[in-house]
Amino acid sequence: MHIGIIGAGSVGATLARRLAAAGHEIAIANASGPQNLRDLVGELGHRSHAVSPSEAARFGDVVIVAVPFGRYDELPTAELKGKPVMDTGNYTPERDGEYPDLEQDRVTSSELVQQHLRGANVVKAFNTLHAEHMRDHARQSSAQERYGIPMSGDDPKAKRAVADLIEELGFQPVDAGDLAAGGRKQQPGGITYDADFTADELVEALRQDS
Ligand SMILES: NC(=O)c1ccc[n+]([C@@H]2O[C@H](COP(=O)([O-])OP(=O)(O)OC[C@H]3O[C@@H](n4cnc5c(N)ncnc54)[C@H](OP(=O)(O)O)[C@@H]3O)[C@@H](O)[C@H]2O)c1
Repeated sequence: MHIGIIGAGSVGATLARRLAAAGHEIAIANASGPQNLRDLVGELGHRSHAVSPSEAARFGDVVIVAVPFGRYDELPTAELKGKPVMDTGNYTPERDGEYPDLEQDRVTSSELVQQHLRGANVVKAFNTLHAEHMRDHARQSSAQERYGIPMSGDDPKAKRAVADLIEELGFQPVDAGDLAAGGRKQQPGGITYDADFTADELVEALRQDS
């Protein structure tokens, strides 16, 4: 599959390595320019490309967004229309600046991303896990042993596409709901955030939280 990745830091580069190893073709972008991604794409292999954010958006059948949340309004919009977009972001006021609507829980960070990316289908996933755990904790085994990855979104088809990627990476997707209710359970302060649950534990935690 063609996967676009916007953001090439801890999360973007980690997922790029794992997805390239799984045989996907990757186009990855950062803010400072493709010339700064030469070492990374060299490591990823000949089926990977360093590109601009717009090119990554155009390239991907699925596009992963792994930029600091406060930069979400710089994401390309037209190129993402109709596509599943996996949002790995978390709102961190010290880094991102204060957003009153988030501070007062009037909206979730992924709903804001969805509002910006009108016409795309945003699915929040992989935001609850440290990048090192994305790298080290994949398992090809049962739900009792696999880490559960909560995912939230408003479009079932986009969720299916993201769920397939999560499984392929050795984790168990667990549906946490839509971007409003599920997004709250996934973002900082939510029941699944930074919890390192197995899939079965995650299902139980979400059940108790509903
Ligand atoms: N680190 C973790 O363990 C972790 C885990 C789960 C979720 N998250 C969340 O995931 C997101 C990414 O975190 P991170 O730790 O990977 O961040 P990071 O290491 O600081 O990397 C951020 C990347 O985004 C790029 N970027 C910034 N603005 C951009 C723009 N407008 N267009 C394209 N690329 C842009 C940066 O490019 P330059 O390098 O060129 O500036 C850099 O490659 C954050 O929202 C974070 O809260 C982080």
